[in-house]
Amino acid sequence: MVTNDLKQTLIQRAVEAREWAYAPYSGYAVGAAVLTESGKIYDGVNVENAVYPLTICAERVAIFKAVSQGETAFQAIAVATKNGGTPCGSCRQVMAEFGMDTIVLLVDSDGELVAEHKLSDLLPEAFSDADLKQS
Ligand code: THU
Repeated sequence: MVTNDLKQTLIQRAVEAREWAYAPYSGYAVGAAVLTESGKIYDGVNVENAVYPLTICAERVAIFKAVSQGETAFQAIAVATKNGGTPCGSCRQVMAEFGMDTIVLLVDSDGELVAEHKLSDLLPEAFSDADLKQS
């Protein structure tokens, strides 16, 4: 159960993390914070590169930090941008790897909630390990 207090904490972490975004090319700073089933929070920012396609989104940085610490179950993720922008398709697919019930909180730079979704609404019919097993 993700209480409103927890949601606020997660949102605050995403807004704070956004300060560290490395986005000299797009100027579109993104901060993310993911809440694990065990109650820990991992944050991340987008990290751009002069070789543009090497850029990685904030959501994936946060999730990969968590996974690399042994955390693979997530209750919620907050994403902070200047306008409450929505996660890209690649990040949705990475989230889907770890469960379709994750709550996705989209907030602006002040931490105001712009939208709240369940991942299953953002990426219906996601490709999954089940597809790999079908004959
Ligand atoms: N970006 C994210 O960090 N997350 C998203 O879900 C959408 C896009 C970043 C990538 C790039 O650094 C900048 O925003 C503009 O696309």
